Amino acid sequence: MWSFHSPTKIFFGEHVLDKEKHSLALLGKRCLVVTGRTSSKANGSLQELLEALESLDIEYVIWDQIGENPTFEQIEEAVEMTRKEKTDFVVGVGGGSPMDASKAIAVLLKNQNLNVEDLYRSETYSEALPICTVPTTSGTGSETTQYSVLTDREGFKKGLSSTAIFPRFSFVDYRYTVTMSEGLTRATGLDALSHAVEGFISKRSSLVSDAIALKSIEIIRDYLPRVLSEPNSKEFRENMMIASTMAGIVISQTGTTMAHALGYPLSTFKSVKHGEANAAFLHNVVELARKEVPQKVEMLYRVLQSDISEFLLKVEFHLQVKLNEDEIKTWTKRALRASHMKSTPGTYTEELILKMYREVGRH
Ligand SMILES: [Fe+2]
Repeated sequence: MWSFHSPTKIFFGEHVLDKEKHSLALLGKRCLVVTGRTSSKANGSLQELLEALESLDIEYVIWDQIGENPTFEQIEEAVEMTRKEKTDFVVGVGGGSPMDASKAIAVLLKNQNLNVEDLYRSETYSEALPICTVPTTSGTGSETTQYSVLTDREGFKKGLSSTAIFPRFSFVDYRYTVTMSEGLTRATGLDALSHAVEGFISKRSSLVSDAIALKSIEIIRDYLPRVLSEPNSKEFRENMMIASTMAGIVISQTGTTMAHALGYPLSTFKSVKHGEANAAFLHNVVELARKEVPQKVEMLYRVLQSDISEFLLKVEFHLQVKLNEDEIKTWTKRALRASHMKSTPGTYTEELILKMYREVGRH
Protein backbone atom coordinates (compact mmCIF):
# COMPACT_ATOMS: atom_id res chain seq x y z
CA MET A 1 0.00 0.00 0.00
CA TRP A 2 1.19 3.54 -0.64
CA SER A 3 -0.09 7.09 -0.90
CA PHE A 4 1.18 10.20 -2.61
CA HIS A 5 0.44 13.65 -1.22
CA SER A 6 2.33 16.65 -2.57
CA PRO A 7 0.13 19.72 -2.09
CA THR A 8 2.67 22.50 -2.69
CA LYS A 9 2.08 24.54 -5.80
CA ILE A 10 5.51 24.98 -7.37
CA PHE A 11 6.21 27.89 -9.68
CA PHE A 12 9.42 27.12 -11.53
CA GLY A 13 11.38 29.36 -13.87
CA GLU A 14 13.20 32.63 -14.36
CA HIS A 15 11.62 35.69 -12.69
CA VAL A 16 8.86 33.48 -11.36
CA LEU A 17 8.37 35.62 -8.26
CA ASP A 18 7.45 38.57 -10.42
CA LYS A 19 5.37 36.57 -12.88
CA GLU A 20 3.38 34.68 -10.23
CA LYS A 21 3.36 37.20 -7.39
CA HIS A 22 -0.44 37.54 -7.48
CA SER A 23 -0.66 34.24 -5.65
CA LEU A 24 0.84 35.97 -2.61
CA ALA A 25 -2.13 38.34 -2.43
CA LEU A 26 -4.37 35.34 -1.76
CA LEU A 27 -2.64 34.80 1.56
CA GLY A 28 -3.24 38.13 3.27
CA LYS A 29 -2.11 41.73 3.71
CA ARG A 30 0.76 41.32 6.18
CA CYS A 31 3.71 39.04 5.60
CA LEU A 32 6.58 37.84 7.79
CA VAL A 33 9.73 37.29 5.74
CA VAL A 34 12.12 34.81 7.38
CA THR A 35 15.67 34.69 6.06
CA GLY A 36 19.36 34.57 6.97
CA ARG A 37 21.73 37.44 7.51
CA THR A 38 23.55 37.62 4.19
CA SER A 39 22.97 35.32 1.22
CA SER A 40 19.40 36.32 0.31
CA LYS A 41 20.62 39.91 0.18
CA ALA A 42 23.57 39.01 -2.04
CA ASN A 43 21.71 36.81 -4.55
CA GLY A 44 18.82 39.20 -5.17
CA SER A 45 16.03 36.96 -3.89
CA LEU A 46 15.09 39.11 -0.90
CA GLN A 47 14.96 42.27 -2.98
CA GLU A 48 12.77 40.63 -5.62
CA LEU A 49 10.41 39.28 -2.96
CA LEU A 50 10.09 42.69 -1.32
CA GLU A 51 9.39 44.32 -4.70
CA ALA A 52 6.66 41.76 -5.35
CA LEU A 53 5.10 42.38 -1.92
CA GLU A 54 5.26 46.16 -2.35
CA SER A 55 3.65 46.03 -5.77
CA LEU A 56 0.76 44.12 -4.20
CA ASP A 57 0.49 46.54 -1.25
CA ILE A 58 1.33 43.73 1.16
CA GLU A 59 3.03 45.04 4.31
CA TYR A 60 6.00 43.04 5.53
CA VAL A 61 8.21 42.46 8.53
CA ILE A 62 11.65 40.95 7.97
CA TRP A 63 13.28 38.55 10.44
CA ASP A 64 16.80 37.97 9.14
CA GLN A 65 18.50 36.32 12.12
CA ILE A 66 18.34 32.68 11.05
CA GLY A 67 21.75 30.99 11.04
CA GLU A 68 22.89 27.63 9.70
CA ASN A 69 21.26 24.70 11.57
CA PRO A 70 18.61 26.86 13.31
CA THR A 71 18.26 26.21 17.03
CA PHE A 72 15.20 26.03 19.27
CA GLU A 73 16.37 29.31 20.80
CA GLN A 74 16.47 31.02 17.39
CA ILE A 75 12.91 29.93 16.70
CA GLU A 76 11.73 31.14 20.11
CA GLU A 77 13.41 34.49 19.60
CA ALA A 78 11.85 34.93 16.14
CA VAL A 79 8.37 34.08 17.43
CA GLU A 80 8.68 36.35 20.44
CA MET A 81 9.89 39.29 18.38
CA THR A 82 7.36 38.97 15.56
CA ARG A 83 4.22 37.81 17.37
CA LYS A 84 2.94 41.33 17.97
CA GLU A 85 3.13 42.08 14.23
CA LYS A 86 0.06 39.93 13.59
CA THR A 87 1.17 38.77 10.16
CA ASP A 88 -1.15 36.71 7.93
CA PHE A 89 1.47 34.49 6.27
CA VAL A 90 5.17 33.63 6.28
CA VAL A 91 7.71 33.48 3.45
CA GLY A 92 11.00 31.62 4.01
CA VAL A 93 13.80 32.84 1.74
CA GLY A 94 17.18 31.11 1.49
CA GLY A 95 18.60 27.63 1.90
CA GLY A 96 17.22 24.87 4.07
CA SER A 97 17.81 26.70 7.35
CA PRO A 98 15.58 29.77 6.77
CA MET A 99 12.94 27.69 4.97
CA ASP A 100 12.80 25.13 7.79
CA ALA A 101 12.77 27.91 10.38
CA SER A 102 9.89 29.66 8.59
CA LYS A 103 7.81 26.50 8.89
CA ALA A 104 8.37 26.17 12.65
CA ILE A 105 7.68 29.88 13.16
CA ALA A 106 4.46 29.65 11.11
CA VAL A 107 3.14 26.89 13.40
CA LEU A 108 4.00 28.76 16.60
CA LEU A 109 2.51 32.04 15.37
CA LYS A 110 -0.73 30.27 14.53
CA ASN A 111 -0.87 28.22 17.75
CA GLN A 112 0.15 30.59 20.50
CA ASN A 113 -0.31 28.02 23.26
CA LEU A 114 2.45 25.77 21.86
CA ASN A 115 6.18 25.83 22.56
CA VAL A 116 9.04 24.60 20.35
CA GLU A 117 9.07 21.14 21.91
CA ASP A 118 5.38 20.75 21.00
CA LEU A 119 6.29 21.02 17.30
CA TYR A 120 7.45 17.39 17.58
CA ARG A 121 4.03 16.28 18.77
CA SER A 122 2.22 16.84 15.50
CA GLU A 123 -1.06 15.70 17.03
CA THR A 124 -1.12 18.96 19.04
CA TYR A 125 -1.66 21.15 15.97
CA SER A 126 -3.27 20.93 12.57
CA GLU A 127 -2.67 24.42 11.22
CA ALA A 128 0.09 26.93 10.62
CA LEU A 129 0.07 30.38 9.09
CA PRO A 130 0.26 29.85 5.29
CA ILE A 131 3.89 29.23 4.29
CA CYS A 132 5.65 30.15 1.04
CA THR A 133 9.26 29.47 0.20
CA VAL A 134 11.87 30.96 -2.10
CA PRO A 135 14.81 28.52 -2.23
CA THR A 136 18.22 29.96 -3.04
CA THR A 137 20.23 26.73 -3.01
CA SER A 138 19.64 23.59 -5.04
CA GLY A 139 19.67 20.76 -2.57
CA THR A 140 17.50 20.89 0.51
CA GLY A 141 14.14 20.28 -1.17
CA SER A 142 12.45 22.02 1.78
CA GLU A 143 10.34 23.98 -0.72
CA THR A 144 8.32 20.83 -1.37
CA THR A 145 8.32 19.03 1.98
CA GLN A 146 6.38 18.85 5.25
CA TYR A 147 9.65 18.70 7.20
CA SER A 148 11.62 21.12 9.30
CA VAL A 149 14.96 20.19 10.87
CA LEU A 150 15.95 22.15 13.97
CA THR A 151 18.78 21.81 16.48
CA ASP A 152 17.58 20.94 19.98
CA ARG A 153 18.87 22.26 23.30
CA GLU A 154 21.51 19.53 23.51
CA GLY A 155 22.87 20.39 20.07
CA PHE A 156 21.30 17.49 18.16
CA LYS A 157 19.44 17.91 14.89
CA LYS A 158 15.86 16.81 15.12
CA GLY A 159 13.39 16.67 12.25
CA LEU A 160 9.69 17.38 12.59
CA SER A 161 7.00 16.40 10.16
CA SER A 162 3.47 17.72 9.77
CA THR A 163 1.20 18.16 6.79
CA ALA A 164 0.42 21.60 8.27
CA ILE A 165 3.84 22.85 7.13
CA PHE A 166 3.79 21.90 3.48
CA PRO A 167 4.43 25.23 1.73
CA ARG A 168 1.36 26.64 0.01
CA PHE A 169 3.45 28.15 -2.81
CA SER A 170 7.13 27.81 -3.69
CA PHE A 171 8.83 30.15 -6.12
CA VAL A 172 11.78 28.27 -7.57
CA ASP A 173 14.16 30.37 -9.67
CA TYR A 174 17.63 29.01 -10.43
CA ARG A 175 19.01 32.56 -10.84
CA TYR A 176 19.37 32.83 -7.05
CA THR A 177 21.76 29.86 -7.01
CA VAL A 178 24.30 31.28 -9.45
CA THR A 179 26.23 33.05 -6.68
CA MET A 180 26.71 29.86 -4.64
CA SER A 181 30.35 28.99 -3.97
CA GLU A 182 31.84 25.80 -5.35
CA GLY A 183 31.73 24.23 -1.87
CA LEU A 184 28.07 25.08 -1.34
CA THR A 185 27.17 23.93 -4.85
CA ARG A 186 28.81 20.57 -4.17
CA ALA A 187 27.32 20.15 -0.69
CA THR A 188 23.78 21.09 -1.72
CA GLY A 189 24.04 18.99 -4.89
CA LEU A 190 25.06 16.02 -2.76
CA ASP A 191 22.10 16.66 -0.45
CA ALA A 192 19.80 16.46 -3.49
CA LEU A 193 21.55 13.25 -4.57
CA SER A 194 21.12 11.80 -1.08
CA HIS A 195 17.41 12.63 -1.10
CA ALA A 196 16.85 10.98 -4.47
CA VAL A 197 18.98 7.92 -3.65
CA GLU A 198 17.69 7.44 -0.11
CA GLY A 199 14.11 7.95 -1.28
CA PHE A 200 14.65 5.41 -4.04
CA ILE A 201 15.89 2.63 -1.74
CA SER A 202 13.51 3.54 1.13
CA LYS A 203 11.03 0.96 2.33
CA ARG A 204 8.42 3.69 1.96
CA SER A 205 9.07 4.25 -1.75
CA SER A 206 6.42 3.69 -4.43
CA LEU A 207 6.50 3.42 -8.20
CA VAL A 208 5.54 7.07 -8.41
CA SER A 209 8.29 8.29 -6.07
CA ASP A 210 10.76 5.94 -7.79
CA ALA A 211 10.07 7.49 -11.18
CA ILE A 212 10.76 10.97 -9.81
CA ALA A 213 13.83 9.75 -7.91
CA LEU A 214 15.43 8.08 -10.93
CA LYS A 215 14.91 11.14 -13.11
CA SER A 216 16.42 13.32 -10.42
CA ILE A 217 19.45 11.00 -10.11
CA GLU A 218 19.90 11.06 -13.89
CA ILE A 219 19.90 14.87 -13.95
CA ILE A 220 22.33 15.09 -11.02
CA ARG A 221 24.61 12.54 -12.75
CA ASP A 222 24.76 14.78 -15.80
CA TYR A 223 24.75 18.23 -14.26
CA LEU A 224 26.45 18.22 -10.85
CA PRO A 225 29.92 17.54 -12.31
CA ARG A 226 29.27 20.10 -15.04
CA VAL A 227 27.97 22.90 -12.80
CA LEU A 228 31.04 22.49 -10.59
CA SER A 229 33.29 23.25 -13.54
CA GLU A 230 31.01 25.89 -15.11
CA PRO A 231 29.20 27.58 -12.23
CA ASN A 232 27.81 30.42 -14.35
CA SER A 233 25.98 28.17 -16.79
CA LYS A 234 22.29 28.90 -16.78
CA GLU A 235 21.49 25.47 -18.17
CA PHE A 236 23.51 23.62 -15.54
CA ARG A 237 22.15 25.68 -12.63
CA GLU A 238 18.58 25.29 -13.85
CA ASN A 239 18.93 21.53 -14.14
CA MET A 240 20.33 21.19 -10.61
CA MET A 241 17.39 23.25 -9.35
CA ILE A 242 14.92 20.94 -11.10
CA ALA A 243 16.69 17.86 -9.73
CA SER A 244 16.72 19.12 -6.16
CA THR A 245 13.05 20.12 -6.24
CA MET A 246 12.18 16.68 -7.61
CA ALA A 247 14.29 15.00 -4.93
CA GLY A 248 12.41 17.06 -2.33
CA ILE A 249 9.13 15.68 -3.65
CA VAL A 250 10.60 12.18 -3.32
CA ILE A 251 11.48 12.54 0.36
CA SER A 252 8.17 14.24 1.11
CA GLN A 253 6.72 10.79 0.34
CA THR A 254 9.46 8.44 1.56
CA GLY A 255 11.37 10.31 4.25
CA THR A 256 15.16 10.03 4.40
CA THR A 257 17.16 7.06 5.65
CA MET A 258 20.09 6.22 7.90
CA ALA A 259 22.47 8.31 5.76
CA HIS A 260 20.71 11.42 7.05
CA ALA A 261 20.43 10.13 10.62
CA LEU A 262 24.15 9.31 10.76
CA GLY A 263 25.12 12.60 9.15
CA TYR A 264 23.25 14.95 11.50
CA PRO A 265 25.86 15.06 14.33
CA LEU A 266 28.65 15.76 11.83
CA SER A 267 26.83 18.97 10.88
CA THR A 268 25.98 20.23 14.33
CA PHE A 269 29.15 19.20 16.17
CA LYS A 270 31.79 19.22 13.41
CA SER A 271 30.44 21.93 11.08
CA VAL A 272 30.31 19.54 8.11
CA LYS A 273 27.84 20.85 5.54
CA HIS A 274 24.58 18.89 5.67
CA GLY A 275 24.80 17.43 2.15
CA GLU A 276 28.39 16.29 2.67
CA ALA A 277 27.51 14.71 6.00
CA ASN A 278 24.86 12.55 4.29
CA ALA A 279 27.12 11.77 1.34
CA ALA A 280 29.81 10.44 3.67
CA PHE A 281 27.52 7.52 4.59
CA LEU A 282 25.61 7.13 1.34
CA HIS A 283 27.77 4.46 -0.29
CA ASN A 284 27.61 2.16 2.75
CA VAL A 285 23.89 2.72 3.22
CA VAL A 286 23.21 1.75 -0.40
CA GLU A 287 25.50 -1.28 -0.23
CA LEU A 288 23.72 -2.46 2.93
CA ALA A 289 20.41 -2.12 1.11
CA ARG A 290 21.65 -4.57 -1.50
CA LYS A 291 20.65 -7.60 0.62
CA GLU A 292 17.02 -6.50 0.72
CA VAL A 293 16.57 -4.66 -2.56
CA PRO A 294 19.30 -5.95 -4.92
CA GLN A 295 17.45 -5.05 -8.10
CA LYS A 296 16.95 -1.50 -6.96
CA VAL A 297 20.61 -1.06 -6.16
CA GLU A 298 21.53 -2.43 -9.59
CA MET A 299 19.09 -0.06 -11.25
CA LEU A 300 20.43 2.86 -9.26
CA TYR A 301 23.99 2.10 -10.36
CA ARG A 302 22.86 1.71 -13.96
CA VAL A 303 21.28 5.16 -13.92
CA LEU A 304 24.21 6.72 -12.09
CA GLN A 305 26.58 4.83 -14.41
CA SER A 306 28.77 4.05 -11.41
CA ASP A 307 28.45 3.20 -7.75
CA ILE A 308 28.09 5.97 -5.17
CA SER A 309 31.75 6.19 -4.17
CA GLU A 310 32.89 6.50 -7.78
CA PHE A 311 30.42 9.31 -8.36
CA LEU A 312 31.61 11.08 -5.21
CA LEU A 313 35.17 10.93 -6.53
CA LYS A 314 33.98 12.36 -9.83
CA VAL A 315 32.59 15.44 -8.08
CA GLU A 316 35.75 15.70 -5.96
CA PHE A 317 34.08 15.08 -2.64
CA HIS A 318 36.66 14.49 0.08
CA LEU A 319 35.50 14.78 3.65
CA GLN A 320 38.08 15.59 6.28
CA VAL A 321 36.83 15.21 9.80
CA LYS A 322 38.30 13.83 12.98
CA LEU A 323 36.04 12.02 15.43
CA ASN A 324 36.99 10.73 18.86
CA GLU A 325 35.73 7.48 20.38
CA ASP A 326 33.42 9.21 22.87
CA GLU A 327 31.67 11.09 20.08
CA ILE A 328 31.36 7.97 17.98
CA LYS A 329 29.84 5.97 20.84
CA THR A 330 27.33 8.69 21.79
CA TRP A 331 26.22 9.24 18.21
CA THR A 332 25.93 5.51 17.55
CA LYS A 333 23.59 5.07 20.53
CA ARG A 334 21.47 7.90 19.21
CA ALA A 335 21.47 6.55 15.64
CA LEU A 336 20.19 3.19 16.91
CA ARG A 337 17.08 4.99 18.18
CA ALA A 338 16.56 7.03 14.98
CA SER A 339 13.16 6.74 13.32
CA HIS A 340 15.02 6.53 9.99
CA MET A 341 15.96 2.95 10.83
CA LYS A 342 12.45 1.71 10.08
CA SER A 343 12.48 2.86 6.47
CA THR A 344 16.09 1.90 5.69
CA PRO A 345 16.65 -1.50 4.07
CA GLY A 346 19.46 -3.56 5.63
CA THR A 347 20.35 -4.51 9.19
CA TYR A 348 22.05 -1.92 11.38
CA THR A 349 23.83 -3.19 14.48
CA GLU A 350 25.74 -1.14 17.02
CA GLU A 351 28.99 -2.66 15.75
CA LEU A 352 28.21 -1.71 12.20
CA ILE A 353 27.34 1.91 12.98
CA LEU A 354 30.48 2.27 15.12
CA LYS A 355 32.47 1.00 12.15
CA MET A 356 30.80 3.42 9.76
CA TYR A 357 31.58 6.39 12.00
CA ARG A 358 35.16 5.22 12.51
CA GLU A 359 35.65 4.98 8.76
CA VAL A 360 34.36 8.50 8.19
CA GLY A 361 36.29 9.94 11.12
CA ARG A 362 39.61 8.48 10.14
CA HIS A 363 40.48 11.38 7.84
FE1 LIG B 1 18.92 16.57 3.42
